Amino acid sequence: MKADGFSKVNDERKCSFYISDDLESQKVCKVLKNHVAWEVGVGDSSRIRKVISIGKCKYFLKVNALTHRNERIRTTLRIKRRGTYDWVLAEIDNGIRLAHLDYIPKVKAYGFKRNRLGLVTHAFVLMEFVESAHSVQELINKFPCRVNELVYASFGLIYKHIIDGFIHLDLWLGNIMLSECLKNGWLIDLEYCKFTKHPRLEEKLGYCLGYYHRHTLSGIMSLEQYLSIFNQWHQNTLGDMHCENINSFITKYSMNETARKTRFEMF
Ligand SMILES: Nc1ncnc2c1ncn2[C@@H]1O[C@H](COP(=O)(O)OP(=O)(O)O)[C@@H](O)[C@H]1O
Ligand SMILES: [Mg+2]
Repeated sequence: MKADGFSKVNDERKCSFYISDDLESQKVCKVLKNHVAWEVGVGDSSRIRKVISIGKCKYFLKVNALTHRNERIRTTLRIKRRGTYDWVLAEIDNGIRLAHLDYIPKVKAYGFKRNRLGLVTHAFVLMEFVESAHSVQELINKFPCRVNELVYASFGLIYKHIIDGFIHLDLWLGNIMLSECLKNGWLIDLEYCKFTKHPRLEEKLGYCLGYYHRHTLSGIMSLEQYLSIFNQWHQNTLGDMHCENINSFITKYSMNETARKTRFEMF
């Protein structure tokens, strides 16, 4: 796992923390011990997502519990399958690998809690808090009459990440965040990404856009409506760029579910 720029701070058998070198590690470690070590110990909060403050800065904390023995073993031994770590490690690793992109919230710390056998039972990741932004899902709930605008605003980010050489394989409304003015966007929840520089732009874009429609959005707007917003975006943004197959890829992937494993191997 690539973790340049992070130092191991708390190295107890039960709990280890890695903190970004640009933070005051002792201070962060103290706060994390309160939030992470304590909370996962009490009442088995297996899934924490919350904003925490350290000094004047806000951060977003995610804690996940590993419930199955095999995922605990894979995480503890840092085993890779199909070129990627198990989900909790993959989220941390992908976040660190993509930290140079301004639409990815930066990972600031991460760590693991272990049981008495030394197996990882919980992992946490502390990241930059994205201020004044919400997931597209939250924005649609808040402003249902702006759904077309919100969908349109997501397309640029979806296109950009593919051009930047990776593909987020779980892009649904909850995993894209937009500022309320819709000028800025972020991709989150990076556990399921594939780094892929190969061509096939049309199929990758078609896949992501089809998936985006299929997951939740299809209950709000028809595929025809969605394609018409996409075609408008395409004309305004990509201009004459020849993408005659995109619509058929979008349709294909909106109509058909692709299993997780297959999705990963497809690109
Ligand atoms: N870096 C962040 N800054 C602010 N809010 C965030 C951040 N990351 C996630 N969120 C909020 O938390 C929600 C859940 O985050 P996500 O990473 O998708 O977790 P989950 O694994 O539960 O799907 C998002 O929809 C968003 O509202
Ligand atoms: Mg999510």
